[in-house]
Amino acid sequence: KQEESIRPQRFADYIGQKDLKDVLDIAIKAAKSRGEVLDHLLLYGPPGLGKTTMAMILASEMGVNYKITSAPALERPRDIVGLLVNLKPGDVLFIDEIHRLSRMTEEILYPAMEDYRLDITIGKGSSARIRSLPLAKFTLVGATTRVGALTSPLRDRFGLVQKLRFYEVDELSQIVLRSAQFLQTPVTEDGAIEIARRSRGTPRIANRLLKRVRDYAEVKSSGEITESIAAEALELFQVDPRGLDWTDRQMLNVIIEQFNGGPVGLETIAAATGEDTQTIEEVYEPYLMQIGYLSRTPRGRVATKAAYKHLDFKPPNNEQLSL
Ligand code: ADE
Repeated sequence: KQEESIRPQRFADYIGQKDLKDVLDIAIKAAKSRGEVLDHLLLYGPPGLGKTTMAMILASEMGVNYKITSAPALERPRDIVGLLVNLKPGDVLFIDEIHRLSRMTEEILYPAMEDYRLDITIGKGSSARIRSLPLAKFTLVGATTRVGALTSPLRDRFGLVQKLRFYEVDELSQIVLRSAQFLQTPVTEDGAIEIARRSRGTPRIANRLLKRVRDYAEVKSSGEITESIAAEALELFQVDPRGLDWTDRQMLNVIIEQFNGGPVGLETIAAATGEDTQTIEEVYEPYLMQIGYLSRTPRGRVATKAAYKHLDFKPPNNEQLSL
């Protein structure tokens, strides 16, 4: 229950992502005033920024039902067919990790998205026939961390394609203050800012760190989260002042110490940190690039001067590295 209320339920409670909210607000108002369903929407960006939450809010603002699934759960054609035939007019169908749909599932989605029609093939070989069934008009909300991994026919069927960006510290601190109320944890403004600073621009991380800091504050002091309690707790959990964790630092250390700052290939970084390449690309690198510690070049990853400084290394004088 507590968990559920931490997620904002309405637009008005959703902090940050102003550009996205402005775009969706207009789309919602226009669709409502015409009495139409909302266009299909593709949300992309790093994990934990609120794609699922936004889809839920969209449904509640439109006053429709919301169904959630993810591409790995739609392995067989019958999985998606079952969902589609049960949709009511206006419903929001949310598909997470939509870049991972199987080809057959994707092909069922094309006419469903375009003409609200289900084409099913009956029989095999020369006796195979296609039967079409009408579907309720619905809104597909797709979410992905890798918009480039979508096939273009699928991407082209979304009327709205929107990127979620990392949050500013002040936005994250508002989120921390809001979540702390639901958790009934006292937190000072500076305490919230300290957690926000170390949350890698990501609300999911901010809420997770808040819970760890709450535990620490309750065990080690009065229970109130102050700036120094938050900093102490997060040092203990190896989250540094810029929010970098062990893996982030290990990645940068490998590039700097073993490869003279780079460029280094993704595979090499993966082997050195024990993370898989996809996690590095989708989870770790976006934030390191956002804060200017890492750059991707055609020949591999390069640690920037700022990264050297953050990790207390002497920056190289080499021009190639002075990004
Ligand atoms: N909790 C998680 N993300 C949030 C957001 N964007 N606004 C408010 N609360 C949140």
